[in-house]
Order: sequence, then structure tokens, then C-alpha cells
Amino acid sequence: MTPFNKILFGGDYNPEQWPKEIWLEDMRILNLAHINSATINVFSWALLQPSESIYDFSRLDDIVDLLVKHNYQIVFATSTAALPAWLSRRYPEVNRTDFEGRQHKFGHRHNACPNSPVFKKYTKLLAQKLAERYGHLANVVCWHISNEYGGECYCDNCAKAFREWLKKRYETIEAVNRAWNMTFWSHTLYDWDDIVVPNALGDAIGYEKTAFAGLSLDYRRFMSDAILTNFIAEKEAIRIVDEKTPITTNLMGTYKGLDYFKFAKEMDIVSWDNYPSYDTPASFTAMSHDLMRGLKAGQPFMLMEQTPSQQNWQPYNSLKKPGQMRCMSYQAMAHGADTIQFFQLRRSIGGCEKFHGAVIDHVGHEHTRVFREVATLGKELEQLGNTILGARTQAKVGIIFDWPNYWALEYTSGPTQDLRYVEHIHHYYKEFYRRQIAVDMVGLDQDFSQYQVLVAPCLYLISDEQAKKIEEFVAQGGRFITTMLSGIATESDNVHLGGYPGPLKQVLGIWVEEIDALPPKEQITVRFASQNVRASLLCDVIHLKGAEQLATYQTNDFYNDYPVITKNTFGQGQSYYVGTLLDNLGMELLVEEVLRDLSIESCVLSQGLEWTKRHKDGKTYHFIMNHTNQMIACDIALMGRNLLTTEIITNITQLSPYETLIIET
Ligand code: GLA
Ligand code: ZN
Repeated sequence: MTPFNKILFGGDYNPEQWPKEIWLEDMRILNLAHINSATINVFSWALLQPSESIYDFSRLDDIVDLLVKHNYQIVFATSTAALPAWLSRRYPEVNRTDFEGRQHKFGHRHNACPNSPVFKKYTKLLAQKLAERYGHLANVVCWHISNEYGGECYCDNCAKAFREWLKKRYETIEAVNRAWNMTFWSHTLYDWDDIVVPNALGDAIGYEKTAFAGLSLDYRRFMSDAILTNFIAEKEAIRIVDEKTPITTNLMGTYKGLDYFKFAKEMDIVSWDNYPSYDTPASFTAMSHDLMRGLKAGQPFMLMEQTPSQQNWQPYNSLKKPGQMRCMSYQAMAHGADTIQFFQLRRSIGGCEKFHGAVIDHVGHEHTRVFREVATLGKELEQLGNTILGARTQAKVGIIFDWPNYWALEYTSGPTQDLRYVEHIHHYYKEFYRRQIAVDMVGLDQDFSQYQVLVAPCLYLISDEQAKKIEEFVAQGGRFITTMLSGIATESDNVHLGGYPGPLKQVLGIWVEEIDALPPKEQITVRFASQNVRASLLCDVIHLKGAEQLATYQTNDFYNDYPVITKNTFGQGQSYYVGTLLDNLGMELLVEEVLRDLSIESCVLSQGLEWTKRHKDGKTYHFIMNHTNQMIACDIALMGRNLLTTEIITNITQLSPYETLIIET
């Protein structure tokens, strides 16, 4: 299901930053690029409400009139992601208090305290006024609440709200003491008011670590929920007058601060902003798209923002090379995007984004390389019409991604500081990607039954209930892979007693007695399937309790010859445990073993090529992409219709730099 009747092609449009004379010129130029949509009103609160009692929609009316007249599909933002000066000055409580405990003054954006009653009041009001004024227009196809929610606040209002949140979760202060294991370091709380926020003035250890993971984890859960409450409040305000226009907010891929699975439950459609760096592997971008699609269990999403050429905020803002923007746009579509939108349509003259790419550049006309590429893409998307819209991915492999695990794993002190959750997930993802195997990124509470293989790297926090669900998956014939640092702790980050990996011991048939951390750059040898592979980071000392060993350590250490990769048959299925970080060859052998006899086809192409499919009405749409600036030879037998040239092809023997083909079979 997609709420749109065509591929939205457009992006952030800020005519309020420009004199009106430019607007008609914008319309002329954007029309040449087949732009059909504009995202407006993202940062206009200061203009819409110049003081506490005055609202002024006249300029916005003009912008909307212009876009309606030119037949645009409008993605309408609510403007609440940057505070107007009067609000910051008059009500200091709306300004965030940072990790060091400093309350900020007016400045920047994404700067509001999510628990400020004043902020809540005025954002709801603004959202409702916008919905009343514009919600009835057929051109308004989507509401875009705020912008890139994120960050955190540590003010007194937040502390107060945190205590209320905790009361709901734990009911008694004794239960909080138990959950956070507060007898450690004499932390026993006597009263709800003893609870302080875990920032630099409290229990944090630097920015990344904490003396009390239970507390810090709960603060993350709370902050994510609090920000989500802001989203819900605006959404409800819109719904009072506009019952049906889909509502979204733009997410940021693997962004750490918010539990996007929870957000997605409140969103009608997921949208996200894709800003890879010059050295981001295509597999990482693919994984991020899959994660965004996974948030709503496979529903297509909006690519709300990408740059047509370069960014301004990375350390090194390289250009997208000729053809690269097109290729990346199709990669998004291949993984489930039903819109292709840019930040932004016209490049601003001042502020920190003046070097950020845009469809219309500072030169002000259409005769630029970037514009030509945007226009070519626009024409192609028009040609595709709604053929691919709403098409789905069919994946037999699921990889679990879980925000509380992301937080807990990176908060925990020891055994190594080098384990990064997202990197580790990507390490597993990229072996399936290399084989061109479709993967769904799944949440812990989603349904696993459609998967033949379920991968859960570093499933560090796990409840007994979640472990049961995994046991059932395996018992019914699934293949489950997990790794070191799994099954360790409860949802409050207290260790499951009785040996690691806690409630996963049965299904895995092992006991992990100790966890050794290797110093940086040190590698050891693992003997796996008659080959030597390399491993690093952590080495679990494993005992077999029913599982068989697939690989052993070859090291001078005392655990020489101990098992490191194990396989256990449980019911109809098998579960695999990997007690270390394998190198690429190790990953190849592992996935080879896990896929054996399954009906999941692998197709290894030259590095840089990607082949991803979407399915709809009995048809398959193959996106075949070259993500490199080199010509790559290949040998892909595929009989079908090239959707962009309409010719019938039978095989593909090469792809030029950044070339993308869309073949229908
Ligand atoms: C984000 C924001 C935009 C803009 C771009 C620049 O995605 O949502 O407002 O700042 O970054 O890359
Ligand atoms: Zn606050």
C-alpha cells in the first residue's frame, strides 16, 4: 500500500527565504526537471507566529497558492523544529538543558525541551491551525511533523517527567532500586525525588558510558518516548480537522537517539533522510533503507531528503559524481522508497547550508550538471509512472535491529570499548548483501515466521519471553545465528544468572564461561571448514552443552582448540553461535554453512554491483546497479523488459559507471 498516486519527485522548498520575483522563475525551472512535489514550511515558525498572540499566514498562503496553481503535491511541514526568538526569550523553559547541565539560550534548531508545557501548547496550536487552513486541499498529500527529531534534554521539567514515567513503569521506588541494582555504590533511593537525570552532573561517565546502565537506559527510553509524545500531540492536533492525509516525520536511518520501531507505530508512513558520506559503503546505505522499510514491517517508505550533489556538514563534502545521484535514487527505490525527494530545491545564500547542494544552484539557472541530472531522473520517474509504486520486498532472511540493545551494548563498561552495535549489524548484513540476498531488518516484537534465517548480532539484552520466541522460531525449523555478547542481560541490564548466554543457553546448546578482549589490531586464527580465517575483538571461552563445534581457536592462549563457532539442533531447526568477530572469509564460510540446503539463492557479483528486487502483482522489478565509477563486466542472465528503454533484454554483460537498469520480469 502506498498513499501516493505517483512517485513524488521534489524536496524541501523554502521560498520564504527569497523575494517573490524568484518564485515564478523557480516554477519555470523546476518544471523543466519534472519536479511534481514540494516539501514546504519546514522552518517557518518565526514567520507564522511573530509574537505570542499574532499568527500571520499570508506569506504561506501565497506559497501554497503558487504550488496549487502549478499542480504540486505538497508535503506540508508543521514548522516546529526551530523555536522563534520570542518564545525562547519569554519562556526559557522551552530551551534545552544540555548534558553538562547548561540551559541554552535562543539559537540553532532542534532545540526544544520535549517536556516543556509551553512548547507543547504552542506546537499543538500551530499544527492545528495549519491543518485547519490547509488540510482540506487536495494538493496536500502528506503532513511532515517537525524535522529530524532527536537530541536530549536534562532540565528540571524533564527530570520531573522522568519520575512520572518511572512511576508508571515501576510503581514503587523499591522496584526502581531493584531494576537499577542500586545497592551498588550505595545508590539506594529513598524517595522519587532522589532520582536525578544521568548527565555529566549525575551518573554519566563521559558522553558514552555510565555508572548505572539501568538508569541511563531508562533515560534513553524515556527521552525517546517524550519526543514521540511531541509527535503524537501534533498528529492528534492535525487529526482534529484532517482525518485522512498521511502523517510522517523524517527519520535518520540508524540514528541512535530514538527508538524508531516505536515511532513507526505512530506514523502513517515512514520517511527518512539519506546522507551517506564519501566513504559510506553501498551496503550500509542498503541496510539503512532496509531498516527504514522494516520499521513498518515492509511497507514502502519516502526518501524525504537526499542531496542532489553534496552536503555541507560532513568533514569532507565530496560531490556525487555524474550518474551517482541517479544510482543512489534507484537504490532507495530498489529497497522500498516510493518517493525521491531532495534537500533542497533552491540553494540558500546564507547560514551554514549555503554550500549544501540543491536542484537550483547559486548561479540561478538550469544549465548545470546537477540540474541536468535531476531533470533526466525526473523524466525517467515520470515514465515509470506508478508501475513500481507499492511493490514489496520478499526476504527470507531477517536481521534483528533493536534500539534498547544498541543503547545498552554501547553503555556497558567492558569487555571492550571497540564494539559498535551498528557496525556489527552491518558486518553480518554485508555478507548477505554480497550474495544479493534480500534482507529484512526486523524488530524484536515483530513476526519472524516468514524467515528461514534469523540473525541477531549482539543480542545483549533479552527477556525470557523474547528468548522463548526465538526458541519457537528454531523449534519450527528456522535457522538462528547469534554472536558473542548475546543473552547477557535483562532489559534493565542486570545479568541473567546461571551462565552466558542466559536464556539462549538451551537453544544454542553452549555455555560461555569467559569473554576475552583482544587489544586493538590483534587478530587470531580460527580453524573453520578446513580453512584458516582471522578473528578479532572478542573471544568467548565456550563449552559445548549439546551443540557441535564448527570452528576452533588456533592461538597460543589457554583456549587454543576450544570451540568458537557452534551449531545446535533444536526441534526442527538449528542455531549457530559465533564467539568472536570473524573476518570476511570467516563470514563467507559461516553464511555458506547456514544457507546449506535452503531455497535461498545466492548470486555473487563483482564488488560494486547490486541486484535488488521488488515485487508487485506477479511481476518482479530488478534493480541492477553499479555503485562505482568504473565500468564493470558481468554475466547476468535475465530475460525481461528494460523499463526505461522498453527494450527486451536477455542478459547483461557490463554496467558503465553508476549505471542502473530496471528490468521487469
Ligand atoms: C537534514 C535536515 C535539513 C537539512 C539537511 C542538510 O536532513 O532535515 O533541514 O539541514 O539535513 O543535509
Ligand atoms: Zn527538558
